[in-house]
Amino acid sequence: MGDDPGIFEVMHTMRTMRRLKTEPVPAEMIHKILDAGIRAPSGQNTQRWAFLVVTDSEGKQFFGERYDYWLHHQFGDRISNFDESTSMGRTTKAALHLAKHMHEAPVLLFCCGKRDWPFAVAEEKRVGKAPPSHGSIYPCVQNILLACRALGLGASLTTMHQMFEEEIHGYYQIPEDYGVVAVIPIGFPQGKFGPVSREPVETKTHYGKWGNRKLE
Ligand SMILES: Cc1cc2nc3c(=O)[nH]c(=O)nc-3n(C[C@H](O)[C@H](O)[C@H](O)COP(=O)(O)O)c2cc1C
Repeated sequence: MGDDPGIFEVMHTMRTMRRLKTEPVPAEMIHKILDAGIRAPSGQNTQRWAFLVVTDSEGKQFFGERYDYWLHHQFGDRISNFDESTSMGRTTKAALHLAKHMHEAPVLLFCCGKRDWPFAVAEEKRVGKAPPSHGSIYPCVQNILLACRALGLGASLTTMHQMFEEEIHGYYQIPEDYGVVAVIPIGFPQGKFGPVSREPVETKTHYGKWGNRKLE
């Protein structure tokens, strides 16, 4: 594979890389990744994303400890007895590894979104805080993941922070009008990139009317 893999090569091999080296990631690379992120589309081009880049050991420790605790709390026995011969078992093993080593990831990238009620929620039904517009942040998150892969950096999209988001807001001083959409640990990968395993297009696609499996 060349230094600059094409977009399709990047998409086909952008596996979740949960085992990372501790070697620092140069600031220019982080900037390049974010600069790819902000090229994403957003509703009415409002660009309501904001990023928090955490590289200090105290900040990473804070997140790592809570992530690991909540992963175990949330999944309990389901993750302690995994079968490594299955794909799910291997993913579980890697997810546990990531949780245990989260604080060692060179960069924790918090992708945040401005809170905004979706059109479909009527005014009178708007109770409490609006969620961030995930639809306007995920294209940016995907661009970031693709940029990491293109630069040879490992990354994983994580969402376990939802279990302790209030604590995160307090500790990192994230304003209340932003929600944290995804936290992406980034670093040079220990393993190799490889093909992602997905069910084929044919099993997911209908043509004209639902149920028609052939393009007429
Ligand atoms: C919305 C979303 C949330 C995810 N949350 C987590 C997470 O909290 N922790 C984690 O280790 N992986 C998380 N993942 C990664 C998925 O587990 C991973 O993409 C999937 O198993 C496919 O594996 P692959 O990307 O290596 O092909 C998340 C992915 C998505 C799209």
